[in-house]
Amino acid sequence: MNVKPDFSKGRNYAETAPAFLSVWNMEAYYGESYIVQNVSFNVHEGEILALLGRNGAGKTSTLRAIARLDAPQVTHGEIWLDHQPLHTMRSHEAAQAGLGLVPEDRRIIPGLTVEENIDLAQIAPPIGWSKERLFELFPRLGERRRQEGVTLSGGEQQMLSIARALARDIKVLLLDEPYEGLAPVIVDEIEKTLRIIKEQGITTILVEQNAVRALELADRAVILDTGSIVFDGSAAEVLGNSELRAEYLAI
Ligand SMILES: Nc1ncnc2c1ncn2[C@@H]1O[C@H](COP(=O)(O)OP(=O)(O)OP(=O)(O)O)[C@@H](O)[C@H]1O
Ligand SMILES: [Mg+2]
Repeated sequence: MNVKPDFSKGRNYAETAPAFLSVWNMEAYYGESYIVQNVSFNVHEGEILALLGRNGAGKTSTLRAIARLDAPQVTHGEIWLDHQPLHTMRSHEAAQAGLGLVPEDRRIIPGLTVEENIDLAQIAPPIGWSKERLFELFPRLGERRRQEGVTLSGGEQQMLSIARALARDIKVLLLDEPYEGLAPVIVDEIEKTLRIIKEQGITTILVEQNAVRALELADRAVILDTGSIVFDGSAAEVLGNSELRAEYLAI
């Protein structure tokens, strides 16, 4: 059995509470350039963590590294999810361990209906939320279950992409800019859904350019700047600190 190391002692962690997802001293690179340097942070079970920073700060790369995608390549460090060493896993194993990545481009599969897109996520165990439960969470998807997924509006596609992640039995939802390009009223709707998902005990890492919206929803925030962490603390603290916001978030 793998025992999660106690990073709280001597490894310079800001937090000492036991973490559900731990990233420790992670370094990752594309080709020859290091993109993520010495990144360590904890995510507690059931919380929403906002992962913020300017364009190119390394947010997407960090999510991809946690999800164990082929690029960027992680060269150093450890990633633990609920006592499981993600850093030793391939992406499909990380998915089985309970990670669900909703990428920025949403990846709706052409030629398939809404329902078929969800079915495809459920062909292999462990199976998560039922279609009935998903359509209750996203009534718009239920109404359009036989419509081709790629013909949905941007907001509906984002909902389908999240629904597809939940259709597997995930513990952690990794969201890359879910609000991008969406009208405020649709952002409201997705935000409401993310609160319900949190109430169901799922842990979320939310990457967003819309930092204020993300901070209003999140419990905690980690800010990246050129691949390194420059802040780790409560979301309220960032909202209340105009210098920090101006320097690293341009808001
Ligand atoms: N496939 C790749 N090959 C080489 N460099 C890459 C690749 N993908 C990203 N990068 C570089 O890595 C750095 C971090 O990119 P990343 O996409 O992680 O940033 P980000 O914080 O998500 O930015 P944004 O807010 O614009 O989405 C950038 O300098 C980017 O150019
Ligand atoms: Mg990005």
